[in-house]
Amino acid sequence: MSFERVCALSDLTVGTAAQALVGGKLVAMVRDDNGHVHAVEDECSHGKVSLSEGDVVGCFLECWLHGSRFDLFTGEPATLPATAAIRVYPVRLEGEDVYVSVDPADIAAAGSQLSAAT
Ligand code: FES
Repeated sequence: MSFERVCALSDLTVGTAAQALVGGKLVAMVRDDNGHVHAVEDECSHGKVSLSEGDVVGCFLECWLHGSRFDLFTGEPATLPATAAIRVYPVRLEGEDVYVSVDPADIAAAGSQLSAAT
């Protein structure tokens, strides 16, 4: 378990992505319209540009360069031209604090929880 405190919940503006550095990796942080906090890889799988500079549309993050939209829950691209998923990192909320892990073991555990829930 390698969760790192990234920010306070109140630091995240609803509907706007922000960049964070977690465990040496750039992460795009998003608080969506429903209050869910997401952490995803901050690099588009199509053109290697920063996704945190893109727009949040519902529970999708749209790449500013060519417009691919990535599902913030699964990392899968919902629109072309991107065809590969981006990594989704597990998020924990503890009171007002937001924690993220980029540890592969935590990512795998979060993925299996997601699978079990669906
Ligand atoms: S660089 Fe992101 S869709 Fe092309």
